[in-house]
Amino acid sequence: MFFDKKLTIWYLQNKRDLPWRKTKNPYSVWLSEIMLQQTRVSQGLPYFQRFKEAFPTVFDLANAEESTVLKLWQGLGYYSRARNLHHTAKHVAYQLDGVFPSNYKDLLKLKGVGEYTASAIASICFDEPVAVVDGNVYRVLSRVFGIRTPINSVAGIKEFKNLAQSLLSRNEPGNYNQAIMDFGALNCKPQKPLCENCSLSVECIAFKNDLVKELPIKEKKVKIRKRFFNFLVLNTDDGKTILEERKTKGIWQGLYQFPLIETKKIISADELVENSCFNQMNLEGCVINKFNKKTIIHKLSHQHLHTQFWIISVNRNDQANLNWSQILEKPVPVLIEKFIEEYRKTLVQKE
Ligand code: ADE
Repeated sequence: MFFDKKLTIWYLQNKRDLPWRKTKNPYSVWLSEIMLQQTRVSQGLPYFQRFKEAFPTVFDLANAEESTVLKLWQGLGYYSRARNLHHTAKHVAYQLDGVFPSNYKDLLKLKGVGEYTASAIASICFDEPVAVVDGNVYRVLSRVFGIRTPINSVAGIKEFKNLAQSLLSRNEPGNYNQAIMDFGALNCKPQKPLCENCSLSVECIAFKNDLVKELPIKEKKVKIRKRFFNFLVLNTDDGKTILEERKTKGIWQGLYQFPLIETKKIISADELVENSCFNQMNLEGCVINKFNKKTIIHKLSHQHLHTQFWIISVNRNDQANLNWSQILEKPVPVLIEKFIEEYRKTLVQKE
């Protein structure tokens, strides 16, 4: 079989030196695979190192405070992954005596572990022959085998899964799975793939038919929801502000934010003062300034957050109980982290 052999040779010469590849310890492999969902290896690597340093074992992670876990996760996005990670660490530590399930079927039962992650852990740690199918695998297979079925259609998901499983090396499934992912990430890249030097180009249907740029095919279906966020950044005379935990389900649950007023459109300062939520906050006599001259558009996968940060200067406020160095300890979304960084510069300039 040309594919399996050529891929294995390529991997031996090009594989990335990654810390979780030096072990078959399921804790390390699980941690790395959860981090690498929707995240590039180069971005996930420093997070993996920091997590392993802070939580060398699943017991250390299980015993940590959720806010500590979220703080270390800050910037990786998709925070439900971090909450599920923490939940599963507790389950493994307390219910399973620290021993991870050792097969695909049981791994799937863990919260936050889907088909992709269960296949990765089962093949890498326990040599179970189950093929991973991630974005890299879709791209490589659709190009090499010239498959035009959309990768996000029901038929496509089934077709690619079956093909991946039929190609999987039975001897070394873990290495094979990592080989195809590395090959997709480094060689058969989304943009500017290295076709000229690719050992698979002789057989690659996309290369031979000039379809590399077209494949894989993805159906467009996500509808982006526009939201309008107004963050109220209080600044009292004694340098205090309010940061509150976001308790509602959905984005950023468990992270901290400045008091938020969500509106139906972008609003002016006059409209802000007329807002009923604003009026409930006891901000008489305050001075309002918009910090960002242009609306910030923070893009998440399914939502675009049109955001304004309002600086509310006020004598005193009973709920404002954190100073600017205390808020740095709280886990916050990247949007807020960036604002704090910018705003603190202006505070330092004033001092
Ligand atoms: N992406 C996610 N997990 C990976 C792994 N184990 N090797 C290469 N790329 C990956």
